[in-house]
Amino acid sequence: MADQISFEPPRGMRDFYPEDMVWRNKVFDAFRAAGEAAGFEPYDACVVESYELLARKAGEEVGEQIYHFHDKSERHIALRAEMTPTLARMVAQRQGSLAFPIKWTTIAQCFRYERMTKGRKREHYQWNCDIVGEESVLAEVEVLGAACDALRRMGLTNADFKVHVSNRALLSELLAASGIPADKHAQVFLALDKRGKMPDEELAHMMKDNGLSDADVAATFAIMDVKTLDAAEALVLKATSAEGGTSPAVDRLRELFRLAEIAGFAECLEFDISVIRGLSYYTGIVFECFDAQREFRAIFGGGRYDNLLTTIGGQPATAVGLGFGDVVVTELLKARLGADAGSAKKGVYVGWMFPEQRDAALKLSAKLRAAGEVVNLALKKAKPKQFFSRASASTCAKAVFLGPDDVAAGQAKMKDLATREETVVAL
Ligand code: HAM
Repeated sequence: MADQISFEPPRGMRDFYPEDMVWRNKVFDAFRAAGEAAGFEPYDACVVESYELLARKAGEEVGEQIYHFHDKSERHIALRAEMTPTLARMVAQRQGSLAFPIKWTTIAQCFRYERMTKGRKREHYQWNCDIVGEESVLAEVEVLGAACDALRRMGLTNADFKVHVSNRALLSELLAASGIPADKHAQVFLALDKRGKMPDEELAHMMKDNGLSDADVAATFAIMDVKTLDAAEALVLKATSAEGGTSPAVDRLRELFRLAEIAGFAECLEFDISVIRGLSYYTGIVFECFDAQREFRAIFGGGRYDNLLTTIGGQPATAVGLGFGDVVVTELLKARLGADAGSAKKGVYVGWMFPEQRDAALKLSAKLRAAGEVVNLALKKAKPKQFFSRASASTCAKAVFLGPDDVAAGQAKMKDLATREETVVAL
């Protein structure tokens, strides 16, 4: 006898039953509305890419987590782990004809062969908003403003989340000020991004394997203790000892906070030098959003990546964007809003007592649907009590039940299932 096939989806993959779709739709609706409100144009792409486009150097998590295979013609194919390389490819393809800056948005299903932890699956949907071709920090502000807007549209308040913001250029300035040469910075970023997930001793080993001295490693960890922009600036300026000097990276962050104040979401932001990001393509401002209690994994993350277009062979273009997954935010919404909050009741449940009322019920349903109402027509006859208990348990807000007397009278009562109020509908 053949082995019983498991009814579970493959490990880390997800099924969405109707009760799960209620949450998914709530989250996706907020993504779409916030993207649209901020003027991002929707785009989409194929879910597989050439492995060559997605694979990057070792040490970077996402690069190591790619699902890949050879197709029947021996092409090396990969499932996308994120949307950014695909976006870069699509932009490069039309770089001569697009009117920059472009603001694009999508909800992309992504696959990562990850170690499974809370909030991390092997497949997730990720809302992306990217601006390509805008150098000014206004681009960061537009992307971050849209993300905060999406969270509020889902029913959260500014007190529920915080976007932690830093600048890789600032970290570079600080590392340089400590005497660590620029060619070592990328490796230091990758090590520091793992802080909190791996013991410091292991990270120190990683850095020393890449040629850092004990003093360099100590200086690197000390930088992570910098708490304010003023303190960061003082460190950079002390090292350069330039009179009236400036730190371009600090200035850029200050400008971001100033513009966010004008846009009305500065209270959602916080400077945090420890935000590095695990992807190697970021070049400037980087950010990661967490729930205020720090109970969950990152809600969204992103930043500026000015070299990706040239890395894949396109013309130079500055870019900034974010990826906002559906998994963590859904866990957070269930915790903050309650497990039932996903389901707003709507529409009419239409039922009938005997086969003789079935046609009238169908006709009424067609009439209500033509008038724009959502109607769930019962497929089987039912006794009144049975019907109303089903209606109450359904996703419908109202119910109409047709018995022989209603059909004879040519009208029936529509009941509001919450208030019990009744209105008359003509059949
Ligand atoms: P990322 O930080 O790797 O960035 O992912 C962004 C978000 O996607 C995370 O904050 C999280 O919400 C969600 N996410 C990532 N991996 C998983 C997973 N295994 N399970 C569930 N959710 C996950 C990027 O992907 C960048 N491409 C974002 C970006 C766009 N940067 C610029 N433009």
